[in-house]
Amino acid sequence: MTFSCTESSCPQFTFDIFGQKLIYAHRFGTLLRLQRAQPACHSGWMLYSLLRPLIFRFDAESAHRLSIGALGLMPSLPCFTDKVLASRVAGLDFPNPVGLAPGYDKNAEIAAPAFGLGFGSVELGTVTPLPQAGNPKPRLFRLVEDRAVINRMGFNNDGREKVAERLSKLDLSKLPGRIGINIGANKDSVDRIADYVAAIQRLGLLADYVTVNISSPNTPGLRALQDKAALDDLLGKVVAAAPEGRPVFLKVAPDLEPADVADICQSVLEHRVAALIVSNTTITRPPLKSHHREESGGLSGAPLRDLAHQRLIDFRRASGGKIPLIGVGGIANADDAYARIRAGASLVQLYSALVYEGPSLADTINRGLARRLKRDGFSSVTDAVGVDVPL
Ligand SMILES: Cc1cc2nc3c(=O)[nH]c(=O)nc-3n(C[C@H](O)[C@H](O)[C@H](O)COP(=O)(O)O)c2cc1C
Repeated sequence: MTFSCTESSCPQFTFDIFGQKLIYAHRFGTLLRLQRAQPACHSGWMLYSLLRPLIFRFDAESAHRLSIGALGLMPSLPCFTDKVLASRVAGLDFPNPVGLAPGYDKNAEIAAPAFGLGFGSVELGTVTPLPQAGNPKPRLFRLVEDRAVINRMGFNNDGREKVAERLSKLDLSKLPGRIGINIGANKDSVDRIADYVAAIQRLGLLADYVTVNISSPNTPGLRALQDKAALDDLLGKVVAAAPEGRPVFLKVAPDLEPADVADICQSVLEHRVAALIVSNTTITRPPLKSHHREESGGLSGAPLRDLAHQRLIDFRRASGGKIPLIGVGGIANADDAYARIRAGASLVQLYSALVYEGPSLADTINRGLARRLKRDGFSSVTDAVGVDVPL
């Protein structure tokens, strides 16, 4: 294995990993080119712990672009499967409960290859009606000492039409898992609810489910849509506009008071929203070590774990277990995922831990989950949902 780095003279890196050559050029913080001399394979990804120091030499956003480019080149190889992991949630079959959270593939560039990492579902987006550049850079920070991330991306994305074009090339019935599309409103929109309605009409049939995201802290005023009256208005219109057979999910913030949780549950049940995703990033700041701790934006990763876990329990209790829950926030291993399922999550998602643990994480979690479920006598993941939080 050799690495040649000539960044200072010519901004280009070459990785030669056991004969697999990856070359990429990096200039002005933008990834310019990624090419493969020979087919990449999962064994290359297993070297993540070796590659990580090198990857971390790039700013977080360039490293993210690099990973998208690399994933797009990966051949699809079989991942771990076990029928104990399969479940049906909101009328959809999931081969395993571990999903890729939105924000990683905002523009549906690597929707199909992401399943090659072992995810049972991939949620794309957030997509807004019009393309949007997002906030000025830098806007994404690795808090290495805290195994966390702060982002204030601001819904940077290629816009609804471009994403629809990419999604229309996918055959949903041939994919090994479920595709979700997460929708949002443009920052300068004069009618945000109309943005969500138009998005679900355009993108609804191109994915297995649609998530209404009203919980990003990086679009000013967006979280106000979580207030009861606004939420009723939004959900009434969006659910009515959803194509037949496409379940609507709602993604909420972790920074909610008990009264908010109760109101949201009421609206969700009233408008027949199919599942709640708990949660997005937090604007709170638990004690952090990294020098990036003062950056504004949403915090994710390990410091979010306990807050997101507690909020999931709050939603389970407030809904009386009547709403399927998807647990997100700080999940980094099989113990975290299993605890979230036992607390009431039918499915889980993750993003930040990928940065620290590498691309084999979903596969590793699935193996660990299957072992834990069998050890504890469960014949399916569904049987373990909520056992630690009796109603
Ligand atoms: C860089 C970054 C961008 C994100 N973008 C979105 C987004 O566009 N839409 C969304 O619903 N959530 C977004 N999220 C939130 C994640 O989907 C997830 O809810 C959150 O990070 C908590 O999970 P984690 O601790 O596993 O990362 C983003 C998170 C990160 C780190």
